[in-house]
Amino acid sequence: SIVDPQLKTGYHFQPIKNWINGNNANLPNLLSALIEVELATPLYYKGWYHFFYQYNPKGAVWGNIVWAHSVSRDLINWHALETALKPSIPSDQYGCWSGSATILPDGTPVIMYTGVASPNNYQVQNIAYPKNASNPLLREWVKPSHINPIIVPEGGINATQFRDPTTAWRAAGDDHWRLLIGSVAPTGGTRGGTRGVAYVYRSRDFRRWTRVRRPLHSAPATGMWECPDFYPVSKDGRRVGLETSVMGTRVKHVLKNSLDLRRYDYYTVGVYDRRAERYVPDDPAGDEGESRRMRYDYGNFYASKTFYDPVKKRRILWGWANESDTAADDVAKGWAGIQVQKLLICYAYMHCMHCIYHSTYTDILSKAQDLLDVIRVFVKKNLAKLVCHVFVYEFDGIDQAIPRTVWLDPSGKQLLQWPIEEVEALRGKSVTLKDKVIKPGQHLKVTGIQTAQADVEVSFEVSSLKGAEPLDPALAGDAERLCGAKGADVEGGVGPFGLWVLASANKQERTAVFFRVFRAAAGSDKPLMVLMCTDPTKSSLNPDLYRPTFAGFVDTDIKDGKISLRSLIDRSVVESFGAGGKTCILSRVYPSLAIGKNARIYVFNNGKAEIKVSRLTAWEMKKPLMNGS
Ligand code: FRU
Repeated sequence: SIVDPQLKTGYHFQPIKNWINGNNANLPNLLSALIEVELATPLYYKGWYHFFYQYNPKGAVWGNIVWAHSVSRDLINWHALETALKPSIPSDQYGCWSGSATILPDGTPVIMYTGVASPNNYQVQNIAYPKNASNPLLREWVKPSHINPIIVPEGGINATQFRDPTTAWRAAGDDHWRLLIGSVAPTGGTRGGTRGVAYVYRSRDFRRWTRVRRPLHSAPATGMWECPDFYPVSKDGRRVGLETSVMGTRVKHVLKNSLDLRRYDYYTVGVYDRRAERYVPDDPAGDEGESRRMRYDYGNFYASKTFYDPVKKRRILWGWANESDTAADDVAKGWAGIQVQKLLICYAYMHCMHCIYHSTYTDILSKAQDLLDVIRVFVKKNLAKLVCHVFVYEFDGIDQAIPRTVWLDPSGKQLLQWPIEEVEALRGKSVTLKDKVIKPGQHLKVTGIQTAQADVEVSFEVSSLKGAEPLDPALAGDAERLCGAKGADVEGGVGPFGLWVLASANKQERTAVFFRVFRAAAGSDKPLMVLMCTDPTKSSLNPDLYRPTFAGFVDTDIKDGKISLRSLIDRSVVESFGAGGKTCILSRVYPSLAIGKNARIYVFNNGKAEIKVSRLTAWEMKKPLMNGS
């Protein structure tokens, strides 16, 4: 078969029919398998969690993006419902793109979403109401034609880069709704169209919206801001989440944008001045320095969205476990040169999915045609295997990360994230290890359970931090490069130590999730720097896969030598949370041996300092109901 069905994730959200197994993977099917799940637009309503996502059920009609809809009682077991929004009015005839739901004061939800109104990608905002708000399932939505489109790109706004309205909020004592729409500063002028922008719109009645002249915020060289998200977080250092309209002195705000150019989500923490309708990040460098930008996740994670869950009073983050290449240049090369290299084709294919949003309809079709021709040549030459990899990449992009609770770290500087507690209901058989010392160069196998689908929590203790290696100043700012240069097998002072997951019996295949401690340059504010990495370079014997290393620094005080790690392993997903959720990395991997019963977990230590596993518990994870599959 083309992709081993055992690599299909078990407990991560996937849409209905997203899995096409080997038997069907002939050429036409391959191309009709253009299914995307992205852009969680989550909502809680009358006992049900709703999840709407961008979905293209028919590859043949690219551009015809709809809102698929699933519901759940517990955010774990999902039932697919009929499509919630599909092109049906002039102002969304070329696609129902991303948007958000807002609960109105009378308790009913309203959706505002981007409609593509012309083949040239003219973007407007529309609204939709539930046909029958007394039905908690919100199956049908109506788009009143006399009011749509509700917002159009006026006043010099770039009409093809004007999308993804946020959930609206209101300030106490003032009855104006506000929401954000993502964009990029118009081309021309000194900034040349690369300044990302979030425009504020205000309304009293949710129908007539006026743009506030100055954007809420913008940042240079960030490009189009997709899927902005803006919400309050509590300064009280507890996990409690806040409803989107909450303001006041005990509150900070978070602004998140998805960078189309770079394909990652970054956020800043700052202050919202509602009178001026401005947001000011506490650390301005966090907007400008590429390496200073904080990300929710340093791996495969894009176009995320949060919502407030009134039941458990928490804010939940949903992200799309996309397989994206941040090197946009490679993508471009793949198209320009039609260098028929396997990986470039995969990139090209992904890019093709991407250009659905960013090119004209004809443009997309012609690019698709090019790609199709290339694939045909491959098939003729009996290089079908390459096609398979294209398929793999398609399959990569369709899961969601496990929903995460997000809250403000007590330092006030960053967010913390943790898998929603409901996921623990899937935990089955477990094993626990305590006080195991792992000597330099050694490793330890976790036995007694199956771990292709597992949840593992570990607390490490480093015997001594004295031997931490000096941080090469040339790499200090670039976690990803640092981890590329110092992968899981490169001996260090303190670390690399961590887990090998999805490892085969002979350890030929393994995905390393680990920490490595560095001594910072003299004079820096923190003497020790902790790097967290996911190194999938040995994840598969399959030579043709794209295996980027992901990494981020962990802003933790490791003076006492303690650090924790949690990994959610789900066949082809490894989603890890370092130091209680300070740094998160989701990585997609495609083992060829470490599949099903043959997947193992080890704890390893490739540093010179001894490491103690004070405690490790690993659970087998059950499979929930997943949209009928
Ligand atoms: C994010 C995005 C959004 C857009 C949607 C289209 O990946 O490009 O900006 O609304 O996807 O499906």
